Amino acid sequence: MPTNEPTVVQTIGLTKIFKDFWHRDRVVAVDKLDLNIHRNQVFGLLGPNGSGKTTTIKMLLGLLYPTRGRINVLGRAPTDVAIKSRIGYLPEESYLYRFLDARETLDYYARLFQIPRQDRRRRVEQLLEMVGLTREARRRVGEYSKGMARRIGLAQALINDPDLLILDEPTTGLDPVGTKEIKDLINFLNRQKQKTILLCSHLLADVEDVCQQVTVLYGGRQQAVGNIRELLSQKNLTQITTERLSDAAIDRICKLVAEEESKRVVSVSTPSDKLETFFLRIVKRAQEARQQTSGVTAGGRIAEFLATDASQQRPEAVVDSLIAAAESVKTTTEEPESTIPPEEPAKDVIDELLTTTQTTDSDESADMDQAASEAVTDQPDQGDREFIDRLIKGSDKENDDDKE
Ligand SMILES: Nc1ncnc2c1ncn2[C@@H]1O[C@H](COP(=O)(O)OP(=O)(O)O)[C@@H](O)[C@H]1O
Ligand SMILES: [Mg+2]
Repeated sequence: MPTNEPTVVQTIGLTKIFKDFWHRDRVVAVDKLDLNIHRNQVFGLLGPNGSGKTTTIKMLLGLLYPTRGRINVLGRAPTDVAIKSRIGYLPEESYLYRFLDARETLDYYARLFQIPRQDRRRRVEQLLEMVGLTREARRRVGEYSKGMARRIGLAQALINDPDLLILDEPTTGLDPVGTKEIKDLINFLNRQKQKTILLCSHLLADVEDVCQQVTVLYGGRQQAVGNIRELLSQKNLTQITTERLSDAAIDRICKLVAEEESKRVVSVSTPSDKLETFFLRIVKRAQEARQQTSGVTAGGRIAEFLATDASQQRPEAVVDSLIAAAESVKTTTEEPESTIPPEEPAKDVIDELLTTTQTTDSDESADMDQAASEAVTDQPDQGDREFIDRLIKGSDKENDDDKE
């Protein structure tokens, strides 16, 4: 896809060869990979297990040194500490401290980014609500189901309001409702907050729904790259969808196609729903029925501190977002929401963790800079927001069943 947006991530001939104890080449995990990820793109790194996705991501983050090739992330080398505060990372495996609860976990990461106390509290509460964990915020994350751990992981990746979000298998282990929520969130962060997102996954349907650009890896090598619609479109076919037609009308159309274009109608069928759409519709109906009886209140509001890059906005967009911000203030004041002041997290434990991490060079988060930009409020797309609201509202309970 031709784009004028500047490049956020670029690799040239990126190669990683893991060696064995005797320094013999053992595995070529990534082989001469060329990537170009532009600003405001959702880019998918696809491939089966072991195809080199995580290794690529770790090299982009400066967690692994490449054997060969060049990397540029946000205009710098990946090891440059100046870019750390502009990147959010959801690792494939959770690095969460089992004995901290969700609020303490987010507070801990916010402190690594040296976010001031007041701002920290605000961000933590907004993120907890956004990922639907406010009610579970006092449980230790070690007790969390896989789905809940993915959500808190995503909240952690957003705490510094990053420009570039790197998500390693964001939907693995989530049920279809959780998957849909994450996909909606990715779309929201990209469309409304202008975030650049690199995600890797082996789940093709997930990638198809959110990515504009993809690369398919196999055995560490790039097998295909391009715009997802272009890659998937069957250019030799035309599809017309109409309301249901009679057999007689179909016959006449087939004749017309033959006469006008000397072509044949390849198939006539009733389109079927994706299983995902069907499943979500059923769950939604069941949730609505339950809400009517239990009067559950809404959750899942998008975290307002997540800034839109104001410098990139056109003047009319700035005006729009100011109006939206004013409206959002209005709506928040209208809602009789009980704001329980967040309890000061287990301070001693966090202090101790911070001291240990800061003395460990190898921890990539330890030397991260002051967190980026101040908040510019922005109103989420109403459709997205309502949908996320409804899903999160009902899915908290479901997640209890989703324990490993
Ligand atoms: N630290 C390591 N040491 C040796 N081999 C590794 C290491 N990390 C990954 N590999 C190997 O590199 C290949 C790519 O792995 P990975 O990047 O994790 O794949 P993916 O994320 O696509 O599933 C695999 O063959 C894996 O076994
Ligand atoms: Mg992986």
